[in-house]
Amino acid sequence: MPSCTEASKPRLLRVFAGEALRPPPIWLMRQAGRYLPEYRRVRARARDFLEVCYTPELAAEVTLQPIRRYALDAAILFADILVVPDALGQAVRFVEGEGPRLDPIRSEADLARLRQGATQARTRARTRARTRAKTQARTRAKTHAKTEEKFARVFETVARVRQDLPPATALIGFCGAPWTVATYMVGGQGSVDQAGARLWAYRDPEGFQRLIGVLEDVSVEYLSGQIGAGADLVQIFDSWAGSLPDDQFRRWVIEPTKRMVGRLKERHPGVPVIGFPRGAGVRVGDYAADTGVDGVSCDTAMPLDFMARELSACAVVQGNLDPLLLLAGGPGLESRVAEILSQLAQRPFIFNLGHGILPETPPDNVARLVALVRGAT
Ligand code: CP3
Repeated sequence: MPSCTEASKPRLLRVFAGEALRPPPIWLMRQAGRYLPEYRRVRARARDFLEVCYTPELAAEVTLQPIRRYALDAAILFADILVVPDALGQAVRFVEGEGPRLDPIRSEADLARLRQGATQARTRARTRARTRAKTQARTRAKTHAKTEEKFARVFETVARVRQDLPPATALIGFCGAPWTVATYMVGGQGSVDQAGARLWAYRDPEGFQRLIGVLEDVSVEYLSGQIGAGADLVQIFDSWAGSLPDDQFRRWVIEPTKRMVGRLKERHPGVPVIGFPRGAGVRVGDYAADTGVDGVSCDTAMPLDFMARELSACAVVQGNLDPLLLLAGGPGLESRVAEILSQLAQRPFIFNLGHGILPETPPDNVARLVALVRGAT
């Protein structure tokens, strides 16, 4: 018999203690978003998307919307991976119908100009070595305050959500992985091949490492603040991990994530970390074993038998229904959900999508999915 504490512990967290739960816990990437009419109503009240992210009242409200509708096993903080560059001073804009836009940084000089929000001994030492120390110190102090102020609004959202969330519902904090965030910072927008960041990494690996190092430092602080405010676990989104060859994958995906996980574990030993190295293919095995993440979120292309047999041996597996199949619905959805459950539900497993919910998804299909996973067919 589970003890009282175990019974009231969110089901999502029990999976990280090694339990194979039937039905498995379920939450969905981008579970709060434009497919929900109640989200669109809140969004219409704000000037733009980032204003929702930085207004705790609105961000908390949209975080809770999918929980009210579907009683999912976890809420995920409503924010964006691009809050980190934005808070660092590289202003982010979201162009309606097109996606994010940033003024690209292409070199170390650009990076130095970027106001450094977090606390990098490395960067600080380098800037200190240069002249104009006083002005820089002033800029740094100002920037630091601005970054902290933006992060503080996100932490307040976390605290508000935790207060309003049923105790059995887990709260997930998140950030983008350094590599993926760097692809947007360098490219200035999304791209099919992440060529800007990859070229910088090839031409000037030391300089590029400094950008990655800044992101590691800031992201650890950012996640740590979310945990301090009440997040039960965190997920690191590496959406563009798949564009890198082996050696580069190790250097820019595995190593930075491993350093982040190590630092988070020192500060928050019991807090699970899930990694989402989208497109990693067979390298997801090395990723799971070497980074020290507790869970791996699998993309749509990951074969179920590989997830069940190989990956489950080193991490909790999460995934990986095709978001397009959720949009399509119908008998195809039913049979695929059954297949995922039959392959994975005997192991510690979290039901999720292989990527985020698409804006055109009918909300009823999501309700159907939740019912299918919970066995209420
Ligand atoms: O999962 C959740 O419900 C939590 C919120 C969340 C958002 N973005 C909200 C959002 C999370 C976890 C993210 C992560 C994110 N953001 C990633 C990693 C995961 C992935 O999808 O690969 C990336 C690459 C981004 C960057 C980003 N944000 C892009 C490329 C876009 C534009 C594309 C789009 O869908 O509009 C966004 C905007 C964004 N982030 C929206 C939402 C709900 C839509 C904004 C709107 O309301 O207009």
